[in-house]
Amino acid sequence: MIHFLLIPFFYSIQCSDENWLQKKCEPSCIFQQGTLDSNNLNLFPKNCSSICADLVIDADSNLTENELIPTFKNVKIIFGTIIISRTNLTSLKFLAGLESLECDDIASDPDLNNPKNGLKLYKNFEMTEIGMINWTNTSCSVQIEMYANFSNFNVPNLKNFNSSDPSKHEIYIQYDYFGIISQNYVCFSLEETSNFYGAENVVMSYQNQKYCDHLSSTVFGEKLCKIPENENIKNLEENCQRIFGILKIGPGDENFVYKLKNVTWIYGKLIIENTTLTSIDFLNNLEFVISFNEQCETSSLQFSHNKNLMEIRLPNLKRIFGILKIGPGDEKFVYKLKNVTWIYGQLIVENTNLTSINFLNNLGFVISFDNYWKRSSLQILQNKNLMEIKLPNLKKVLGGYNPFVITGNNGNFANFSKICSEIRHVLYKAPSNVPYVDRQTCEAIQKKNMERVQILEILKVFRNR
Ligand SMILES: *[C@@H]1O[C@H](CO)[C@@H](O)[C@H](O)[C@H]1NC(C)=O
Ligand SMILES: *[C@@H]1O[C@H](CO)[C@@H](O)[C@H](O)[C@H]1NC(C)=O
Ligand SMILES: *[C@@H]1O[C@H](CO)[C@@H](O)[C@H](O)[C@H]1NC(C)=O
Ligand SMILES: *[C@@H]1O[C@H](CO)[C@@H](O)[C@H](O)[C@H]1NC(C)=O
Ligand SMILES: *[C@@H]1O[C@H](CO)[C@@H](O)[C@H](O)[C@H]1NC(C)=O
Ligand SMILES: *[C@@H]1O[C@H](CO)[C@@H](O)[C@H](O)[C@H]1NC(C)=O
Ligand SMILES: *[C@@H]1O[C@H](CO)[C@@H](O)[C@H](O)[C@H]1NC(C)=O
Ligand SMILES: *[C@@H]1O[C@H](CO)[C@@H](O)[C@H](O)[C@H]1NC(C)=O
Ligand SMILES: *[C@@H]1O[C@H](CO)[C@@H](O)[C@H](O)[C@H]1NC(C)=O
Ligand SMILES: *[C@@H]1O[C@H](CO)[C@@H](O)[C@H](O)[C@H]1NC(C)=O
Ligand SMILES: *[C@@H]1O[C@H](CO)[C@@H](O)[C@H](O)[C@H]1NC(C)=O
Ligand SMILES: *[C@@H]1O[C@H](CO)[C@@H](O)[C@H](O)[C@H]1NC(C)=O
Repeated sequence: MIHFLLIPFFYSIQCSDENWLQKKCEPSCIFQQGTLDSNNLNLFPKNCSSICADLVIDADSNLTENELIPTFKNVKIIFGTIIISRTNLTSLKFLAGLESLECDDIASDPDLNNPKNGLKLYKNFEMTEIGMINWTNTSCSVQIEMYANFSNFNVPNLKNFNSSDPSKHEIYIQYDYFGIISQNYVCFSLEETSNFYGAENVVMSYQNQKYCDHLSSTVFGEKLCKIPENENIKNLEENCQRIFGILKIGPGDENFVYKLKNVTWIYGKLIIENTTLTSIDFLNNLEFVISFNEQCETSSLQFSHNKNLMEIRLPNLKRIFGILKIGPGDEKFVYKLKNVTWIYGQLIVENTNLTSINFLNNLGFVISFDNYWKRSSLQILQNKNLMEIKLPNLKKVLGGYNPFVITGNNGNFANFSKICSEIRHVLYKAPSNVPYVDRQTCEAIQKKNMERVQILEILKVFRNR
């Protein structure tokens, strides 16, 4: 059993390729020393707007923010890496002018424990935010240890995550709480949420987190409608493009669902329950449903007890953050999930009479950083008629002790290692317990198969005597 507790952060020194650095900068703009301190501060290329460096600032640097601010005043692009550790800095606002952090070619290795390059912040106990307000571009992964005072990212403009090949080159934004955790979870602004969760190649950690207060009535110029608690769609404004909150559509609301026609983002949840709707065909523009925190209670998208419902159309839905559950009675809608590529959270297929899971051809990632509940991200349970599981594009399943469990379905899954291996085959560097079929690894099933073959062969030998 793999215990997936806190993500162990690596403290190793970063190293960009020497030749790459030479190519990117004028010789006079390369800071060779790496560790910046009060003794070599005068060697820092203060006049360059692009610098090349594997920069380290730590307790031994003996530098104050007042010294750092003028030093980095002109820096707009850094080629290389940044590590800041064991300082008393409260933010990185001395890098507020930085627009781009570009890394050397990162190994196309989605191993969360070891993103090679990037921005690393650890043991900065006083830090409250990143605060790099002009940072827009990066090709680097980010790792942050958050301590009690860390309350928000504040990188409102970070939105270009350069990657030539989105399927191979994931950028990880990893963060975790360390030390005493207050209930004061880190917050993401709606813009940050949109930038990070909307980017094709960004993989976010999931920790307890919340939305920051959002005062404006727009997000990127699009109209935001905030749903107060227990508010009904009857009272929802017209022309909403994005929705914040939990929107419940219940009996009597059927005539108001047209209001959702232009909605692209839901920062929260959508629950459609006990209506007489025959078709959910009013969410054609919905692309993202991202709900934080209340993971345990209800699904992010929930359609239940709609007796007349014949179809669910979600033609543009790309990402779901939360729980997606397919249960008895949902069978006829499952093909609507064809275009879903990412699920942040859990996908549960339970107690259906499906014979094939062949409707998730585009699903690439199911990721939950569910360190606390240890729940599996992908669960295929008790589907007695299930004969095949096809997930041809699945690359990564992360979350829980056993990230991908297949239990109580057709006995074939537990008896034939070929089925297990086929599922496993497409996954990238999956640990040995993925998938976990009726509490066995593929390897264990294979061993049983081989033993069975051996027994048959021994029997054959006996028979032939
Ligand atoms: C930086 O620029 C200033 C003013 O433009 C100039 O006086 C100084 O010599 C330059 N320093 C270096 C190290 O190039
Ligand atoms: C940070 O502050 C503490 C307490 O004021 C002090 O003991 C420590 O030396 C400081 N560390 C650095 C790197 O300045
Ligand atoms: C720390 O920097 C100050 C000047 O900023 C200097 O006087 C002092 O010697 C430095 N201390 C160490 C240990 O380098
Ligand atoms: C951030 O960018 C804006 C607009 O380009 C600029 O006016 C501002 O000076 C920059 N901030 C810093 C700290 O360099
Ligand atoms: C956090 O902030 C509080 C109040 O601003 C301060 O007293 C404390 O030293 C800070 N640092 C930590 C690690 O809590
Ligand atoms: C950031 O990325 C955008 C889009 O890829 C590009 O147009 C812009 O020049 C980049 N800016 C910097 C500072 O690299
Ligand atoms: C991404 O970065 C690479 C190398 O740094 C560059 O060649 C490529 O043009 C960039 N792509 C985009 C979309 O900015
Ligand atoms: C959707 O957007 C179109 C075009 O902007 C607008 O005419 C229409 O009224 C909007 N409908 C709703 C329900 O928001
Ligand atoms: C929906 O109906 C079920 C029983 O059929 C009931 O338990 C539930 O409270 C109803 N929910 C709403 C929102 O009406
Ligand atoms: C998937 O996306 C394609 C292209 O955007 C669209 O034509 C199709 O209707 C979508 N399918 C489903 C089931 O949503
Ligand atoms: C599957 O179950 C649904 C109701 O849950 C039922 O309408 C349908 O006929 C069943 N299909 C098969 C093949 O048993
Ligand atoms: C494996 O197959 C045998 C018979 O073919 C069946 O009795 C058994 O239940 C299957 N194993 C499981 C775990 O379903």
